[in-house]
Amino acid sequence: MAIKDDVRPITEEADFLKIKAFDHIELWVGNAKQAAYFYQHAYGFTPVAYSGLETGNRRTTSYVLKQGKVFMVLTGAYHPNTDISAHQMVHGDGVRAIALEVPDAAEAYHATTSRGARGLHDAIDFEDEHGRIRVSAIEIYGDTIHKFIERTDYNGTFLPGFRAIPTADEAKNSVGLAAIDHIVGNVELGKMNYWVNFYHHVMGFRQLIHFDDQAISTEYTALMSKVMENGNGRVKFPINEPAQGRKKSQIEEYLDFYHGAGVQHVAMITDDIIRTVTELRSRGVEFLTPPPDAYYDEVILQRLKEKNANVKEDLETVRKLGILLDVDDEGYLLQIFTRPLGDRPTMFFEIIQRRGSRGFGLGNFKSLFESIEREQALRGTLE
Ligand code: FE2
Repeated sequence: MAIKDDVRPITEEADFLKIKAFDHIELWVGNAKQAAYFYQHAYGFTPVAYSGLETGNRRTTSYVLKQGKVFMVLTGAYHPNTDISAHQMVHGDGVRAIALEVPDAAEAYHATTSRGARGLHDAIDFEDEHGRIRVSAIEIYGDTIHKFIERTDYNGTFLPGFRAIPTADEAKNSVGLAAIDHIVGNVELGKMNYWVNFYHHVMGFRQLIHFDDQAISTEYTALMSKVMENGNGRVKFPINEPAQGRKKSQIEEYLDFYHGAGVQHVAMITDDIIRTVTELRSRGVEFLTPPPDAYYDEVILQRLKEKNANVKEDLETVRKLGILLDVDDEGYLLQIFTRPLGDRPTMFFEIIQRRGSRGFGLGNFKSLFESIEREQALRGTLE
């Protein structure tokens, strides 16, 4: 791929590609039916559309789940000789596509491929009685792709080819997840700047922040991370790569088990994290081990005092639920990370509530990593 090799911090505007927002994520999974049940009952999603044998699809089953503005598609294959089955064998369940809504899918394809992106397919039209959708796609890190979705001429539930599932249960099922905040990619050692350049020169993003391995290290492991953001600020992609530490970093563990680069976590916004996490815990969702009490008693109180910040939430409840808190000059944020969603220690979710802060919880990275290391030690992968 001919992308300008530019490792300087990239902060200037490069907003040549119009992206409206996240459209959906698609996971390729081993068993879409069971995955749909899990994400519905554990995480509060509602199935709103389906494609499979009953709709004339002889190749795949897809369930479209919705919560707030988050659309998640779970797709499994019926037969062994498909790209989905091959993907499943190598990676296990994981994100295949990060779909972005654009005003013009053909233009998005040409703008990105002419700047060095590897194209998967140019714009294709899909139609049904609800109108027309136009989709193009390019490859990104690992076996992951971006789809560009143009849906201005469409008023159906999701996409043509899907049968809507009538439901009145969305509000009842919901745990309060409202939208995707950011999606993090783990890439191979030495590849972070390549993908930062890709998002800048090919996708028109700018660099928001940069965390080096000094900022993000524990006694044992380290990583580096840069955050890329699109023009309207609604799409954010932190990119991580492992850094040299005394033991194997969580990024290396991910790369070993995913067998390559891929999506590490999807962060979803809630406007009431206390309610969301209480509900998720009552449904059996497992989160990373909470930090020790000293985290709340010393670190958090100290940081709040330094920034002269007042927290609206009851700190005792925050501590009881294991929610992390980070403060900066603009405000604060509350966040918590789930355990891996499947068998492999790969993809997980983050639940985040922003109260002014636009950060990513830098102040929590250390305690987060220490908590991941405790679990890596149990898995025998912290060596
Ligand atoms: Fe995150």
